[in-house]
Amino acid sequence: MSFTTITTNPCMIADSHHTILPPSCPNLLRRLSRVKSNMTQLRLANGDQLPALGLGTWKAEPGVVGQAVQAAVRLGYRHIDCAKIYGNEAEIGAALATMFANGEIRREELWITSKLWNDAHRPEHVLPTLQKTLADLQLDYLDLYLIHWPVAFRHGVLYPEQASDTVPLSELPLVETWSAMQGVQTRGLTKHIGVANFTRHKLRRLIEQGGQVPEVNQLELHPYLQQWPMLEFCQQNRILLTGYAPLGSAGRPEHLKPADEPVLLQDPVIVSIAARLGVTPAQVLIQWGISRGVSVIPKSVRPERLAENFAATQVQLSEEDTLQIKSLERHRRYFTGQFWTFPEHHYTPETLWDGEN
Ligand SMILES: NC(=O)c1ccc[n+]([C@@H]2O[C@H](COP(=O)([O-])OP(=O)(O)OC[C@H]3O[C@@H](n4cnc5c(N)ncnc54)[C@H](OP(=O)(O)O)[C@@H]3O)[C@@H](O)[C@H]2O)c1
Repeated sequence: MSFTTITTNPCMIADSHHTILPPSCPNLLRRLSRVKSNMTQLRLANGDQLPALGLGTWKAEPGVVGQAVQAAVRLGYRHIDCAKIYGNEAEIGAALATMFANGEIRREELWITSKLWNDAHRPEHVLPTLQKTLADLQLDYLDLYLIHWPVAFRHGVLYPEQASDTVPLSELPLVETWSAMQGVQTRGLTKHIGVANFTRHKLRRLIEQGGQVPEVNQLELHPYLQQWPMLEFCQQNRILLTGYAPLGSAGRPEHLKPADEPVLLQDPVIVSIAARLGVTPAQVLIQWGISRGVSVIPKSVRPERLAENFAATQVQLSEEDTLQIKSLERHRRYFTGQFWTFPEHHYTPETLWDGEN
């Protein structure tokens, strides 16, 4: 069944304040409310539900991100993916506080994720770092707190310039950080805890040593990096997967993009499926992720794309479409972790990814 994308709807005109959804557009409002009420939810062990579609906020610039988050919530997004290192949590917090204060949404209707940056892995840094994030977001608790990367930096180093800015895992094992994450969960500062960018090897070790299975692993996931063995491993261990860069992360800084980089949104197979269904390539990519039982967190700050991406949950891919997309696997990472691997050092691409792809 095809689905007509709502992006072409003439009502989807953003004004200078990026507000959307004019009340004069009842069809659009009805359609979005249907999308909202049909949103796929992923269930955690305690019965809590993670909305399968979330909003990414990396590279959502100050001055823009607050309006984007408000527009997303008004459209029906209920899951926002944040991180301290994105440098925009205070603006997101202010935007949410305004919406709570004027009664547009209640805190408990939202799922808010944030992440512990790599310079705060020492157990004594976990609680104050989370408290800072909560203060910035103006929240009493998070729904999910993740260890952002399985690499540690010296405290205060945001991006390492030399190998000595990092701390080897032999000196600061992930299990120590994980134990402190369990501590902040026990204090009620986050409902759930998990990790990001962990391989199966690192997850296995953490489960063996750590006493508690991470509830979520957030990692790069799209048709060029399909992560089937990880999906199977996580299903067996009751770990939910969240896929980042679902659209191919075209907004990354240029220096992180190799010249030969394939552009996912322009892939001929994706483009042709989209054309046949009368939807957009982004909608095909988002729905492909959700149909695999993972959550996806496409980032946009543009109202028309926020609506387009949100409506993707109504796209129906056929078995043939899914098979065609499966054939696109390239084991291609857009995020190689090159920013903190150093030749012949304790963090190399091999130690980061453990040979898994
Ligand atoms: N855990 C981690 O280590 C990690 C790493 C990377 C990302 N993440 C999270 O995952 C989120 C998503 O990943 P990402 O931001 O790297 O990449 P992405 O969501 O795949 O792509 C975002 C880019 O696509 C554009 N875009 C959005 N919707 C579009 C549409 N419908 N059509 C065409 N272009 C569209 C956005 O531009 P506009 O904003 O201009 O629309 C932006 O440039 C991040 O924002 C972050 O929250 C986590």
